Amino acid sequence: MELNHKTIAVTGAAMGIGEACAALLKESGANVIIVDIDEAAGKAAAQTHGCDFFKADISDEDDMKALRDYITANYGSLDILVNNAAKQTEKNFFDFTVKDFASDINVNLIGTFAAIRTLCEIMKPGSSILNMLSVHYEQPRLNKYAYDASKAGIAMLTKEAALVLAERGITVNAISYGAVRTPMNRDWIEHPEHMEQAKEKVPLRWVGEPEEIASFVKAILTEFSAHATGSVFTIDGGRRLI
Ligand SMILES: NC(=O)c1ccc[n+]([C@@H]2O[C@H](COP(=O)([O-])OP(=O)(O)OC[C@H]3O[C@@H](n4cnc5c(N)ncnc54)[C@H](O)[C@@H]3O)[C@@H](O)[C@H]2O)c1
Repeated sequence: MELNHKTIAVTGAAMGIGEACAALLKESGANVIIVDIDEAAGKAAAQTHGCDFFKADISDEDDMKALRDYITANYGSLDILVNNAAKQTEKNFFDFTVKDFASDINVNLIGTFAAIRTLCEIMKPGSSILNMLSVHYEQPRLNKYAYDASKAGIAMLTKEAALVLAERGITVNAISYGAVRTPMNRDWIEHPEHMEQAKEKVPLRWVGEPEEIASFVKAILTEFSAHATGSVFTIDGGRRLI
C-alpha cells in the first residue's frame, strides 16, 4: 500500500514502539493520529512528529466510538489501524490477583477487540489492521501471566478478525517481536544487569530498538498487507528459538 495521504491511527503511540511507528509513517506521507490514554505524552509526541492526537482508553467502547466519529469528521475514513497500546503487570504467580489479571486482559485483549470492532466500520476495502504480539504469545515464561495470555488472545483475534473482515476487503495481520528498548522495559535503565540478562536470551545478543520495529511495520504495511491476512510476521533476533 502506498502510504502517501493515507489515514493511519496508531494506538499507544505517546512513547516507545508506537511513537516510532507514528513518526516513520508520518515521515512516509501519511496522516497519523496518535491515540493514547496519556494526554501529556501523547500531545508532546504529536507535536514532535507533526501528527494528530486523540486521547482515548482503547478498552473504553465509548472512547473508541468517539475516535471513530472524530476520524470520520476529520479524515472521512481510516486506511490503517495499528493496535499497539498495551500494559504489562509483573508479579509472582501467588501475588497475582484476579484484578491484576483482568486489568492487563482488559487493556490488551479487550481494548484491541474494541478498537477493531469499532474502527472497522470506517475502513474501506483495501484497508489494513496490524496487531502487536510478543514472542510470549506462544512462548511461556514467569511473572507476566496476564500480558502473555492477552497476546495469545490477540493472536487468535487476529485470525478470526481476518476471516470476518476478508468479506469487507480488510486485511488483519500481526507482528511478533522479542525484547525492545522502550519505557515498558524501563527496568533495564535502572538495572543494567537486567539488560545484559535480556540480551543473553536473544541468540543475536542484542535487543531491538523501537525504530527497527517501526521499519518492519512500514515494510509489512507497504509490501505485504494486500494479500497477507491472518498472518503473524516475526522480528525477534531469534528470541523465540530458546
Ligand atoms: N518493549 C518490548 O520489549 C515489547 C516486546 C514485544 C511486544 N511489545 C509490544 O509492543 C507494543 C508497544 O510496547 P512498548 O514497549 O512501546 O510499550 P510502552 O509501555 O513503552 O508504551 C505503551 C503505550 O500505550 C499506552 N497505553 C497503555 N494503556 C492504554 C490504554 N488503555 N489506552 C490507550 N493507550 C494506552 C501508554 O500510555 C503508552 O504510551 C505493545 O503492544 C507491547 O505489548 C513490546
